[in-house]
Amino acid sequence: MPALVLLGAQWGDEGKGKATDLLGGSVDYVVRYQGGNNAGHTVVVGDQKYALHLLPSGILSPGCTPVIGNGVVVDPSVLLSELSGLNERGVDTSKLLLSGNAHIITPYNVTVDKVTERFLGKRKIGTTGRGIGPTYADKINRVGIRVQDLYDESILTQKVEAALDAKNQMLTKLYNRRAIAVEQVVGELLGYADKLAPYVTDTVLVLNEALDQDKVVLFEGGQGTLLDIDHGTYPFVTSSNPTAGGACTGAGVGPTKISRVIGILKAYTTRVGAGPFPTELFDEDGEALRRIGGERGVTTGRDRRCGWFDAVIARYATRVNGLTDFFLTKLDVLTGWEQIPVCVAYEIDGRRVEELPYSQTDFHHAKPVYEMLPGWSEDITGAKSFSDLPKNAQAYVKALEEMSGAPISAIGVGPGRDETIEINSFL
Ligand code: IMP
Repeated sequence: MPALVLLGAQWGDEGKGKATDLLGGSVDYVVRYQGGNNAGHTVVVGDQKYALHLLPSGILSPGCTPVIGNGVVVDPSVLLSELSGLNERGVDTSKLLLSGNAHIITPYNVTVDKVTERFLGKRKIGTTGRGIGPTYADKINRVGIRVQDLYDESILTQKVEAALDAKNQMLTKLYNRRAIAVEQVVGELLGYADKLAPYVTDTVLVLNEALDQDKVVLFEGGQGTLLDIDHGTYPFVTSSNPTAGGACTGAGVGPTKISRVIGILKAYTTRVGAGPFPTELFDEDGEALRRIGGERGVTTGRDRRCGWFDAVIARYATRVNGLTDFFLTKLDVLTGWEQIPVCVAYEIDGRRVEELPYSQTDFHHAKPVYEMLPGWSEDITGAKSFSDLPKNAQAYVKALEEMSGAPISAIGVGPGRDETIEINSFL
């Protein structure tokens, strides 16, 4: 029962799509377990580039069944347009499975996300504006709408009424917006019911049966460890659990079933939205990383904040996820620097700190302590094995591995599907 979790070890955008897709060919099921269309994967297959926001990247591998688990929040209009976009390009999406227990991002959740961010002003989170936080808030408040509710009009109407009751008070009285009509929302949601019906099922049962039959199941996290609602840089986080435990709750499989947890780790660091980021660069090096690494959000089109590799974060990701391996991505982006700084610890109010501080105040004050590693200038995009890499690139990888606390089992040396060096097989 090989069940692998693949998740971001930093603040998201580590290149998970490439890693998932690389494994996709030998994987029977690829499951998303949290988040929604705030995620963005770019997958390059041959000369085709696909940007996926909600669908698991396994959708591009013909033998693989893509699954949207119960822990995901689903905007039906986005899901349907992503499906039809792929169909137009000849991708067969008919195997998709959608949990009947997944929560729906309603139009009012999107409205609330936007107005609350605007209201926060300078203190805003920098959300993707896709309604993710408000939908999870409704789930926890027990006024959420689930996929299965689309198939019972009377229940759906009651639930939308319950959800809008308080929200309309808030929208009209606090935010000076127009109230949202129950019938309009119900009508729109019912319009999705038939189109989604072929995909809706009990994904928990399907996945557990698959594991019992020794099928290979890959759980694909959206966002990243430092954006986790519990373990990330709260409150500058997303509203779900991308960390490994989220795979269990968000897909309905027990922790004893998980055999491997792979952290995707970019060879430098990026972050979108607000919040602390100790190794962030504001100089031409940051600009160069952004330009060479193409660091612009797949979902929002926002420029990503860029900085050097942070080993404190990588160690933290190893700990909170119980990582068994790393997949190091975008090593090629670092080609050309004479020396590459790597953050090995923080200095906080004059003290050297080796581990991520749990206190938000301390983390905001953390200054990186850098070690300089020698760079390389040779093009590495054609490297097929570890020994093909220049000596200094090998040393950089080895140093990161030692600092981060788990073996680096694969290295991305270019955006293409085949531009990966496999050191230890994941399966
Ligand atoms: P939300 O997930 O839209 O609520 O946004 C909360 C925070 O998570 C913001 O800082 C977003 O920029 C960030 N975020 C959400 N999804 C991603 C992602 O896929 N990659 C990187 N950052 C993300």
